Amino acid sequence: MGTSDSHYSLLSLSLIFILLIMLCFKANVVAASALNNNKISGFYVFGDSTVDPGNNNYIKTTFKSNFPPYGRDFPNQVPTGRFTNGMLSTDYIASYTGLKKEVLPPYLDPNLSTQELMTGVSFASAGSGFDPLTPTITNVIPIEKQLEYFKECKRKMEVVVGKERTENHIKKAAFFISAGTNDFVLNYFILPIQRKSFTLLAYQQFLIQHVKQFIQGLLEEGAERIVIAGVPPFGCLPMMITLNSPNTFLQRHCLTNYSSIARDYNQLLQHELHLMQLNLNLINPPPKLYYADIYGPLAGMIQAPQQFGFDEVSSGCCGSGLIEASFLCNKISNVCTDPSKYVFWDSIHPTGRAYYHIFMASLPIIDSIINS
Ligand SMILES: *[C@@H]1O[C@H](CO)[C@@H](O)[C@H](O)[C@H]1NC(C)=O
Ligand SMILES: *[C@@H]1O[C@H](CO)[C@@H](O)[C@H](O)[C@H]1NC(C)=O
Repeated sequence: MGTSDSHYSLLSLSLIFILLIMLCFKANVVAASALNNNKISGFYVFGDSTVDPGNNNYIKTTFKSNFPPYGRDFPNQVPTGRFTNGMLSTDYIASYTGLKKEVLPPYLDPNLSTQELMTGVSFASAGSGFDPLTPTITNVIPIEKQLEYFKECKRKMEVVVGKERTENHIKKAAFFISAGTNDFVLNYFILPIQRKSFTLLAYQQFLIQHVKQFIQGLLEEGAERIVIAGVPPFGCLPMMITLNSPNTFLQRHCLTNYSSIARDYNQLLQHELHLMQLNLNLINPPPKLYYADIYGPLAGMIQAPQQFGFDEVSSGCCGSGLIEASFLCNKISNVCTDPSKYVFWDSIHPTGRAYYHIFMASLPIIDSIINS
């Protein structure tokens, strides 16, 4: 190693050191502000792989990720069925809200205690979507079935703590929904099944109709605080870049045409949520709907990776990074040496590090729910 090399490594060492200090400082701030947060009674999550902690382990589907290298950076390196190397944003949220749990477990885990059910679980299933056809392609848990599971969960709580306490508990719980990407990317763009029956605008409206139906279902079960996440920039997903770039290996950047479809959908979604909220305001006390932006935080990381310590934004860490996800990212895949430098873990899903930044971006919403 020459002198310039050792200077260079000294410099990067100091940089790493400074970064570590900053991270610790940040972690302290987060921990401190969460200390008195006990105003959420429980946290219930619905949707797709972005929030599935391993429900698919318990069903017959090829959409699984309960094998290495998934979970490589999860506590104890367990491949839990989360489609990432580390934790999901919803795990960070659960731990932040002072519910006394470090991660959010999958509802289908047969060993959950009543305490775990009360403080929160995820009903989400990787590969699912708002379009009822989407989970039939992937053979996973439809979103309406996830609502049925929530009703079952409610009955289990009622048996233990009674009907009234369960109702009060649900009123003070936070609900979180994240889906839509599989409907567009898998169902509409890649396969393309629904493209034959719907124009893009009609499909967006069709999906939003289903989002509203699902929210309605939660409201009927007593939910009063519901967060609905938007969709990410589709054109930046490594798989979409791979499938749609003329020169996939040399020129990899986001496809603006696909990302603008995500933006349009998010706009439409926010508009509909706003209209729904106006109606809900007539109820006393009014249930609250919140929109969580995923697009902005991810696009931010992709546009200014250095600011977040990333240096690879257009391919995943697992395998070639161009096409692998789920069973294609497996024990025999190459894995990049430092996933924390990658925005994407596989060709579709963010790394734990990227999920952490998405969580940080959602904090204002989480805080306003806690303080409401
Ligand atoms: C559930 O608990 C039983 C008994 O403690 C154990 O044998 C089993 O492996 C557990 N199952 C899961 C999915 O953790
Ligand atoms: C988006 O642009 C890419 C690359 O120019 C093209 O291959 C693809 O067909 C376009 N897709 C849509 C939906 O416009």
